[in-house]
Amino acid sequence: MPVSAKPAKTQTAGPARGSLLGVEKLPARDITALLELARRMDPLKTRPALRGKRVLLLFYEPSTRTRTSFEIAAQALGAATSLVLSSGSSVEKGESLLDTAYTLRAVGVDAIVVRHPNSGAPHLMANYLDIPVINAGDGMHEHPTQALLDAYTILRHKKKLSGLQVTIVGDVYHSRVARSAIHLFSKLGARVTLCGPPELLPEIAATLVEGLRITRSSEEAVRGADVIMVLRLQRERLAGLKISLPDYISRYQITLARLRLAAPEALLMHPGPINRGLELTWEAADCEQSVIVEEVSNGVPVRMAVLARALGKGP
Ligand code: CP
Repeated sequence: MPVSAKPAKTQTAGPARGSLLGVEKLPARDITALLELARRMDPLKTRPALRGKRVLLLFYEPSTRTRTSFEIAAQALGAATSLVLSSGSSVEKGESLLDTAYTLRAVGVDAIVVRHPNSGAPHLMANYLDIPVINAGDGMHEHPTQALLDAYTILRHKKKLSGLQVTIVGDVYHSRVARSAIHLFSKLGARVTLCGPPELLPEIAATLVEGLRITRSSEEAVRGADVIMVLRLQRERLAGLKISLPDYISRYQITLARLRLAAPEALLMHPGPINRGLELTWEAADCEQSVIVEEVSNGVPVRMAVLARALGKGP
């Protein structure tokens, strides 16, 4: 028998329906529909909506919140879950991203949730797979489900995002959380202000969306804000940047005194993990206005909605 070549891996017509790769290209009506679906999800009540479905969690980077909440969300909908970490898998033997994706497809998974250190990795997978791919954070690019759960958290307290003043403080440059949040909050009508030193917030960030405001003064950024989102200072990525931690703390750390400049009943948010005593004081992290723990809890209904949509049971 002659040996014939099999066709090489071929690109699909585009990401499978239900994929969630980012917020930038997600229409506002889809965001609203997902948030509405999340509102109807009850993580404490197991539903059979995704019974028989298999959700694969593929993590090339550490995670506590995103990974566990996706797992709990999938199981609350009746789906089976499997976890593949790059460490301990055949990725360590050099298997490529696409070969890994094809292998997981071949064992019969119905959707892949992926976190990867390289921007665009979920998009590449989605362009070669016929099943939904969900971005759980790609490099310095996007973290769409974090932005959705943050919007969901704000809406539980403020009822609408339109007209709210949202301030994002800290390491915007390295933050996929910030990029997704900027797009999502702006699409829903919030006025977004960014604050940080030039090394962590280059002027070009102002071009991300129309109407974005940049300031170098944390007092100015926080004054009158309805929501203050503090970003983790990504110390693992600071090598080569001229950042003095004592200077950063004195100019940008969110303290109770700085929080008092915000609007009454302003919300304090942080995607986690927190560097207590660095970007945020201990007292501020645990103050009454802090919704940091609630953000984590809200990750479950939001990710239930994302999975329901991915597997054909949502908008
Ligand atoms: N916010 C967030 O993505 O946290 P994890 O890295 O713990 O998932």
